[in-house]
Amino acid sequence: MPPAPPPDELPPVMAHRGLSAHAPENTLAAVRAAHAAGCRWVELDVQLLGDGTPVIWHDAGIKRCTGERGRLAGLSLATARRLDVGGWFSAEFNGERMATLEAMLDLIVSLELGLNLEFKVNRGRDPAALVDAVLPPVERCLPPSRWLASSFDRRALHALRRHRPDPHQLRLGLIAKRLPRSWREDIRALDAFSLHLDWRRLREQQARAVAASPCRLVAYTVNDPHVARRLYAWGADSLISDDPKKLTDIK
Ligand code: G3P
Ligand code: MG
Repeated sequence: MPPAPPPDELPPVMAHRGLSAHAPENTLAAVRAAHAAGCRWVELDVQLLGDGTPVIWHDAGIKRCTGERGRLAGLSLATARRLDVGGWFSAEFNGERMATLEAMLDLIVSLELGLNLEFKVNRGRDPAALVDAVLPPVERCLPPSRWLASSFDRRALHALRRHRPDPHQLRLGLIAKRLPRSWREDIRALDAFSLHLDWRRLREQQARAVAASPCRLVAYTVNDPHVARRLYAWGADSLISDDPKKLTDIK
């Protein structure tokens, strides 16, 4: 197992949606599997059910990971808890239930993991409501050095920063499919800790420019050791991977 990074730093690899190559994404089982595989941090997506309960879920709908039709925003907790969110992945995970944020935080605390929590704002959803519901329970459970709030959604990130103006109290990660031209201003406006970029659209010069700035460089979703080696050489601080075991001992 690699040595733990200093508390203020990100680990070389984070498990994407838990250990999603080997367990159903964004579930308690996927986080247990990530921990068992030696991961120290996990990346998870958080959204609200229709009744306002924060849950760990990626899509706007439920079809891909349950086989049933419907929108997450149309579910109450009671209905959501009846869904099987593991069987689509393999029979071994039949009966896995959708994780509430509360249950996931309990697990993260008990396993002493770090958390990159992606505030997922799908079309038509309210970023402010998500932030209001999610920030208090996470802050009750984890110190600022043990978690990172990330999002593609600028409105969510700005709302988070308005809640916690001190960057030492709340670390923000701006996620983007490609490096925005205005990235230096964007980072400054948010007082962001990290930029999370899709490695497939990241050029060497861009990576090196971010790595040379005070902002950490995180790349997603990296499952190939050759790609990982290149990204670390360009200065990447951390990689988000479905299968972190493939990337061990590279950085
Ligand atoms: O946090 C990086 C990555 O998770 C962003 O994409 O679609 O997997 O949430 P997605
Ligand atoms: Mg994500």
